[in-house]
Amino acid sequence: MRPTRLGPLLLAVLVAVACGPDDADDVDLARGERLFEMNCVACHGHLATGTTAGPPLVHEIYEPGHHPDESFHRAVQQGVPQHHWDFGPMPAIPGLREAEVTDIIAYVRSLQREAGIID
Ligand code: HEC
Repeated sequence: MRPTRLGPLLLAVLVAVACGPDDADDVDLARGERLFEMNCVACHGHLATGTTAGPPLVHEIYEPGHHPDESFHRAVQQGVPQHHWDFGPMPAIPGLREAEVTDIIAYVRSLQREAGIID
C-alpha cells in the first residue's frame, strides 16, 4: 500500500477506537462504578447504601419493576421532586452522557442483584 492510502485508513481506525466504547451496546461496569462514585455517592452513598442526604438505591422500591432504567435517566436529566423520602428533591446532575448513565444504572443493578433485590 502506498503511504498516501494509509492516511484515510489510519483515520478510520482511530475514529473506530475513539468512538468504540460509547457506540458499543455492552455496558462498562467499572466506568459505571467510577461515575457513580463521582456523581451520586454524596447523596446515595458508597455502594448505593444511602446517606443522610439521599436514599439507598439498593432498596426494593428501586428494583426495575418499580423504577425501570428510564426513571434513572429521567432522574439524572431532570432531577426528582421529593416523594418517597424526606431528604428533599434530587437536583438534575449535569454533564453526564446517556451512555454514561446507562453504565451507572448497570452498576446499581449489579449491586441490587448482589443484595438479592433482583435475580
Ligand atoms: C444532591 C443529592 C443527590 C445526588 C447528587 C444524586 N441524587 Fe438521586 N436522589 C436524591 C434524593 C434525595 C432522592 C429521593 C427523592 C424522593 O423520592 O423523595 C433521589 C432519587 C433518585 C432516584 C429515584 C427516582 C425516582 O423516580 O423516584 C434515582 C433513580 C436516583 N436518585 C439516581 C441518582 C443517580 C444515578 C445519581 C448520580 C448520577 C444521583 N441520583 C445523584 C438525591 C441525590
